[in-house]
Amino acid sequence: MENSEAKRIDVLEHMEHLKPIFEQSYNFIVITTPELEEPGPEFIYVNSAFTKATGYSAEELKGKTPRILQGEKSDRSVLDRLKKELKEGKFFQGHTINYRKDGSEYWVEWNISPIYNKSGELSCYFCVQHDITKQMDIQKETQRLLEIEIKNRIAQEQMLIQQSKMAIMGEMIGVIAHQWQQPLSVANLLADSLIELELDDANIAKKEIDDTSHRIMEQVKFMSDTIYDFKNFFKVDRKKSPFLIVEEIEKVLKLVKPLIYKFKIDVKIEEKKRNIYALGHANEFKQVMINFISNVKDAYEERGIKDRVFKIVVDSDEKQTYIELSDKAGGIPQNLLPQKIFEAYVSTKGDKGSGIGMNITKTIIENNMNGTICVKNIGEGATFFITLPKFK
Ligand SMILES: Nc1ncnc2c1ncn2[C@@H]1O[C@H](COP(=O)(O)OP(=O)(O)OP(=O)(O)O)[C@@H](O)[C@H]1O
Ligand SMILES: [Mg+2]
Repeated sequence: MENSEAKRIDVLEHMEHLKPIFEQSYNFIVITTPELEEPGPEFIYVNSAFTKATGYSAEELKGKTPRILQGEKSDRSVLDRLKKELKEGKFFQGHTINYRKDGSEYWVEWNISPIYNKSGELSCYFCVQHDITKQMDIQKETQRLLEIEIKNRIAQEQMLIQQSKMAIMGEMIGVIAHQWQQPLSVANLLADSLIELELDDANIAKKEIDDTSHRIMEQVKFMSDTIYDFKNFFKVDRKKSPFLIVEEIEKVLKLVKPLIYKFKIDVKIEEKKRNIYALGHANEFKQVMINFISNVKDAYEERGIKDRVFKIVVDSDEKQTYIELSDKAGGIPQNLLPQKIFEAYVSTKGDKGSGIGMNITKTIIENNMNGTICVKNIGEGATFFITLPKFK
C-alpha cells in the first residue's frame, strides 16, 4: 500500500504541469495505479469532465477503484480482455456500459495506456474516456428501424408472392371455367334428352337411359380431366408424348356430338396422309379443338347462317405438320386481324365471351407444342393455319 501511495504521489508530481491541459479536455481523463489484482487499481487523478459526467467528486474517489463504475450491464468479456491486455503490457481499447454515482447508465468508450517511469517500471495507467451514449442510441435506433424495414420488406414480398399466386390461380380458374362451358352444355343437352324420353317401350327406354347416362359421365370425366390439365398448364418441363392428331380430333367430335348436332354443323376431316403424329399433351390439344368448335358455333349462330360447315385438313411434309381449320361463318372482324384475336380478353361477344379462348389456343400451340398459329379471312369465312414441328 505504501508503495502504491508513493507511486501516487510520484505520478501526481510528474503530471502537475499537465493538469491545466487535462482540465480543459472534453474527454474524461483518469489516471490509476497499475494494480490489476483485487481490489484493483486505485484512482490517482480524474479531470473535471469526468467528475461532471459521473457525479463523483475527486475527493470521494480517493482510495477507490474504477471498478465502482461497473455494474450489471457492463460487458464482462470487454473487462476480461482489458485485464488480459494490460497484464501483457499492451494498450487497451474498448467500450461498455458504466454507471454514474446516481446509478444511471452511460456508454463509455475508453483506452488505457501503461505509463513507465525513467527506470522502466510501470508507474500508472493513463486512461482517456468519452461518453458514446448518444452514438449508441443512434446506432440502436438505426438498428431498430432497419429491423422494422426488413420485416416490412419481407411482409411486402410475401404479399406480392401471395398476390401473384392468387393471380395465377385466378387465371387458372378462368381457363377451367372457359373449357368447361362446352362439356357442360353438352351434359345439359344430354340431360334434357333424358327428360324428353318417351317411356312407352321399356326396353328402348332402358337402353337410352344407359347410353345417355354413359355419355353424361364422359362429359363429367372430361371436365375433371380439364381441372387436372390446367392445374399443370403453367408448369414448365412437363413431359410431352406423341399422339395421333386425327384420333384426338375425332375424340373431341364424339364428345361434342350433341352440340354439333343441335347447331347443325357439318364437320369434315380431311386426312391427307395417314398417321400424322404431334408431340405435346393430347388433352391440351383437345382443348384447342373445343375452342375452335365453340367459336365456329357462336359465329354461325350470331350471324344466322344456315349452311354450316367446319372443315379440318391435316397434312404434313418432310419438316412440318399442318392443320387448317376453315368455316363459312362470315370471317373474323377486321379489327381483330391479324394478331389481336389471340390476345387475352379480346372478345366481340360482350357478356357472352371472356375473350380467352384464342389466347389459350395460341399458348398451347406456340408455347407448349412449339408450333405457330395464324388466321385469315378466306372465302365466306375464316381459316386458321396451324403448323407443328414434324414428329418422326
Ligand atoms: N371462327 C370465327 N369466326 C368469326 N369470328 C371469330 C371466330 N373465332 C373467333 N372469332 C372472333 O374472335 C374473338 C375472340 O375469340 P375468343 O375465342 O378468344 O374469345 P370469345 O369467343 O369472344 O370468348 P371466350 O373467351 O368465351 O371464348 C371472338 O369474340 C370473335 O369475334
Ligand atoms: Mg371463344
